[in-house]
Amino acid sequence: MNHFSYRGGILHAEDVPLDELARAAGTPLYVYSTATLSRHYQVFAGAVPAGSLVAYAAKANDNLAVLKTLAKLGAGADVVSGGELAKALAAGIPASKIVFSGVGKAAEEMRAALEAGIYQFNVESEPELAALDEVARSLNKQAPITLRINPDVDAKTHAKINTGMAETKFGIPFDRARQAYADAARMKNIQIVGVDVHIGSQITDLAPFEAAFQRVGGLIQLLRSDGHAIRRLDLGGGLGVPYENSNTPPPDPAEYGAMVTRVTKDFGCTLSFEPGRLIAANAGILLSRVLYVKHGDAKQFLIIDAGMNDLIRPAMYEAWHEIVPVVEPRPGSARVAYDVVGPVCETADLFASGRNLPELKSGDLVAILSAGAYGAVMASAYNARPPAAEVLVAGGDWSVVRSRLTHEQLIAQDSLPHWLAD
Ligand code: LLP
Repeated sequence: MNHFSYRGGILHAEDVPLDELARAAGTPLYVYSTATLSRHYQVFAGAVPAGSLVAYAAKANDNLAVLKTLAKLGAGADVVSGGELAKALAAGIPASKIVFSGVGKAAEEMRAALEAGIYQFNVESEPELAALDEVARSLNKQAPITLRINPDVDAKTHAKINTGMAETKFGIPFDRARQAYADAARMKNIQIVGVDVHIGSQITDLAPFEAAFQRVGGLIQLLRSDGHAIRRLDLGGGLGVPYENSNTPPPDPAEYGAMVTRVTKDFGCTLSFEPGRLIAANAGILLSRVLYVKHGDAKQFLIIDAGMNDLIRPAMYEAWHEIVPVVEPRPGSARVAYDVVGPVCETADLFASGRNLPELKSGDLVAILSAGAYGAVMASAYNARPPAAEVLVAGGDWSVVRSRLTHEQLIAQDSLPHWLAD
């Protein structure tokens, strides 16, 4: 459920017509809907056991306005860098609701998180544990930790976002878990609080989640019998979203919540979750204008002003995004099979191949849907293209929440060495 719909023949974000927004704020433009973000957060938070921490995975969309919208609803944050930590704190998410994940936390980042007093570190390796102990000692603090356990479960998602198998860099191997907890218990500035598991992203089947949660449940019993106080269980993120209407939809949060409740009811742990995509993906679109329609020998190309530097998911994961015209097509209007491409000088700059759309012309607007998660955050200035600006809509109101860099600002990011300065 999202708040992008046609009204009077024009696609709207909540009450804002997107043709007017494009004129006012320019394209390419990410447009986020407050009502959709809020709804997704509330549906998820309402589906998981009461008292759980819902730590929004900031990596999905770390715009300060998005983080603050969620902060006001009571969300925590899952961060994976000092930058995300700083943004979450700046958006008003209390440190007591922040978890720090990731395989490569640097000492400086650990220090910042310890000084802020975060909820917990999800530690991913034995060397990281030793490093955290040392940083905590230097600050005379205790670091609350879970160890992220790799359950060796196949989440059956795209290979580049499948993280719960033994071959991936994530987590501590299941068979080494007891030893790693025993090591942690001997460290003076480490405080064991629980266990963490995350098996991947865009997961569309509950079975892999359940298998992983059951495995971790068994481990919790063993760890308690070893004398560790396991009070918390972090179940990660990963619940998929519908990108394509024609596919079977992923399980909804209520089904996921019911499964979690059933599986974990006797674990005796406070739960935390790290949903990212589920909250942000369908709360955002990428609005773009058609530059040219090019008739190739083999194909018709719709060349739009958004490129792979703005939204890399199709190029990187062969991701499918629905593309719709901003002016509602008349029922029964003729369709043309377009390759929808951007201006970047790479064949991979392809949003959709042979996509049936109504006939479009230069100057028309299209919206690439489900682009609110892993869109703007993965943008770059490749080809010296300033990434798309971002707008947040709330009802009939809207505001630019990240402006487009000017060419002068792009140039100002570089500096010349003294031997090249005139
Ligand atoms: N927690 C951890 C430890 C993670 O690594 C991730 C995602 C999440 C939570 C949030 O997962 P979500 O609920 O969003 O599925 N760029 C890729 C997705 C990468 C996901 C990486 N980790 C894409 O565009 O599909």
